Amino acid sequence: HYYVAILAGGIGSRFWPKSRTAYPKQFLDILNSGKTLIQSTFDRYASFLPKENIFVVTSEEYAGIVQEQLPEINAANILAEPSRKNTAPCVAYIAFKLAQIDPAAALIVAPSDHLVLDNAEFERVALEALGFAEHMKSFVTLGIKPTYPNTGYGYIQHETQAVADNIYQVKTFTEKPNTELAKTFIASGDFLWNAGIFIWRVEDVVRAFEKYQPEMFEVFAAEQLLFNTPEESNALARIYPLCTNISIDYAIMEKASNVYVIPSSFGWSDLGTWNSAYETLEKDYLGNAVAGNNVMIIDATKCMVSAPHNKLLVLQGLDDFIIVDTEDVLLICKKENEQQVKEYVAEVKRNK
Ligand code: GDD
Ligand code: MG
Repeated sequence: HYYVAILAGGIGSRFWPKSRTAYPKQFLDILNSGKTLIQSTFDRYASFLPKENIFVVTSEEYAGIVQEQLPEINAANILAEPSRKNTAPCVAYIAFKLAQIDPAAALIVAPSDHLVLDNAEFERVALEALGFAEHMKSFVTLGIKPTYPNTGYGYIQHETQAVADNIYQVKTFTEKPNTELAKTFIASGDFLWNAGIFIWRVEDVVRAFEKYQPEMFEVFAAEQLLFNTPEESNALARIYPLCTNISIDYAIMEKASNVYVIPSSFGWSDLGTWNSAYETLEKDYLGNAVAGNNVMIIDATKCMVSAPHNKLLVLQGLDDFIIVDTEDVLLICKKENEQQVKEYVAEVKRNK
């Protein structure tokens, strides 16, 4: 009864200069590992779940790329949304559909564009979360120890007393706080980052929509009987225009009670920036993180280096730099100025 829905419809964060193509980040091999992020995500779940239980929810325009990058997945397990309405409608879709296929299903909802370094530890935590969600009929989130006041994340505060081995009841869930609030959260030492991975029984997800998003619930419930029939895409074409554009974090997680968190450490990064990749990746003894296996470092420290396999990159004398080589763009910038460079590039593009 265990399933995963990999969400792959975002156009999401830009990881310049790697992510400039029509392909968003999940379809790119950001770290030159030989696999794109969605391929690594799929493999992570396929190692402990049957392939028939792995679904990908994406937008119509990306369905072909998903099939191409994941040839092992059954076409029926690729769910195509007619428009982009953020993650709440997309979670409602998979939950209502699975409720028909297997009402006892427990489901992991997972992003398609993150990095996880320790897959064995991830599997352990995921199975623990599935077991707990199933048994307690509760929602489980995975929490990451925060390092700085990033305003792009959800923040989770939990009770101090564990209810089971390393599982805590959530006191508050705050999605994307402003800088001031994020700073307060970090200073208090009381908060975890939300990894964006949710574990729950589909029956409870459907109930949560009924309670916290009654309008969206009605819209899906009215068409639910057409899911898993040839009429499904017509039903979706009627449903999606009626859905609010809202993320699952705002729509459900901030409101739900009965939410738990497992503080986790499986080497997680959402790869939002090269600096975040640097923080998570393994470093050599001089503190360099290298993505790609054709890099020669003579003496350089604390650099984030990403280089394609087909070209030797030789590095000497740089400290605290980001060096990213792609086919047609070479980025060399001081780590501390990454944000500035992103803004500059965005500006150059706007003015073109
Ligand atoms: N199918 C589908 N349809 N997928 C979508 C859509 C959509 O309309 N919008 C986003 N996604 C996918 C993205 O591709 C990504 O894999 C995942 O859903 C999460 O969406 P993001 O847009 O990347 O969310 P976020 O990064 O702003 O915030 C979430 O992740 C953070 C951790 O990285 C939240 O859950 C935060 O609380 C969390 O901290
Ligand atoms: Mg994200």
